[in-house]
Amino acid sequence: MKDTADIAVLFVCLGNICRSPTAEGVFRKRVKDAGLSERIFIDSCGTAGYHEGGSPDRRAQAYARTQGIDLSSLQARALRDDDFERFDYILVMDQANLDDVNARAPAHCRAHIALLLDFAPRSSPREVPDPYYGGDAGFKRVFGLVDEAAVELLHMLEARLDAHS
Ligand code: 4NP
Repeated sequence: MKDTADIAVLFVCLGNICRSPTAEGVFRKRVKDAGLSERIFIDSCGTAGYHEGGSPDRRAQAYARTQGIDLSSLQARALRDDDFERFDYILVMDQANLDDVNARAPAHCRAHIALLLDFAPRSSPREVPDPYYGGDAGFKRVFGLVDEAAVELLHMLEARLDAHS
């Protein structure tokens, strides 16, 4: 529950059916394996509501399943105004998402809004490419990029939790 967690992280893409649900599933697994599920609240959404209520894209689900991650229970939703109050980190997939989220952010937003791949190793690109109109290889690439960033993001949050516990 968000109310009892110490840190809340929201992953954002355009449709909330390919990249951000993959990031949510990958990060949720890493947080669970680290024993921090009660302390870190995780969600995802899209800047657009086209797919509201829908399941993650079957190609995203299929690749995640090969890596032991089940995305089937996730349901797409659009970004809401109260997300800017509820979340500490709002992590987006590409520059268009960043522009859209920043345009909606209230003037004194306390959430840290950034590209997810700002947390990835330096060799990584800055943006997670949109795989929606491509083939299966794009979904594998998305998974790899978000997983690399998830590792570093978790390290950073673990250090933050240690500093406050
Ligand atoms: P996502 O991918 O932003 O990673 O979920 C997309 C999903 C749907 C669309 C575009 C991108 N669409 O145009 O419907």
